[in-house]
Amino acid sequence: YVDDNTASVAVAKRIADLITANGAEGKHTVLGLATGATPVKVYAELIRLHKEEGLSFKNVVTFNLDEYYPMKPNAAQSYVAFMKAQLFDHVDINMDNVHIPDGTLAEDEIVPFCAAYEKKISSYGGLDIQILGIGRTGHIGFNEPGSAPNSGTRLVTLDDLTRRDASRDFGGKENVPTKAITMGIGTIFKAKQIILMAWNKKKASIVKKAVEGEISSEVPATYLQLSNNVEFVLDQDAASDLT
Ligand code: F6R
Repeated sequence: YVDDNTASVAVAKRIADLITANGAEGKHTVLGLATGATPVKVYAELIRLHKEEGLSFKNVVTFNLDEYYPMKPNAAQSYVAFMKAQLFDHVDINMDNVHIPDGTLAEDEIVPFCAAYEKKISSYGGLDIQILGIGRTGHIGFNEPGSAPNSGTRLVTLDDLTRRDASRDFGGKENVPTKAITMGIGTIFKAKQIILMAWNKKKASIVKKAVEGEISSEVPATYLQLSNNVEFVLDQDAASDLT
């Protein structure tokens, strides 16, 4: 795509068309959602489609990829706050259908929570579309280098580079949590469609590694090369290192 605006509108249309088609048959649409800068314009377009073109989220169920740990849902940097501000507060979604990993759990509650998160996704028939960004470490969700291809939802330690990239939101790297709860690579892989989006020159080198590099846990996004259901949606800058 020439730029992230046209790309984001195209991704939003794909999501909206699926919601509409499933809704006509009385079926849920199960969306896997990402936070960060990358999907913001997709969410803005979904809000516009809701406000101006009657797109309803009444039959939509969502599962977010990840949340910092520990994190209070009402903290400004929480992914709960992000999702409300960028999407949920502006559409007619039933908040009972919204799922985001819980950053307030006690340590001994994390393993059962993660198992229940996986079960809940399966109970809705799995994710229809998972949208992804990509971190400069090659992470998808917060699956940092070293993540296994069959990993499930779990507590992980964030890479130093990831924490540095988040430092602006937290007013310094030392304030960025060292851990997060994330869907696993295996969780993401079970989605019927996976759409990885990347914009800007600063993503060009990691996009090249993800698409053309050797498949390795060193760059978890390379695992996506093994899926037939994945699409990379890029702007010209993010695609500029591809051969
Ligand atoms: C967010 C997530 C991360 C981001 C990635 C890119 O839920 O799981 O993998 O998608 O860190 O972040 P941005 O879009 O801010 O460049």
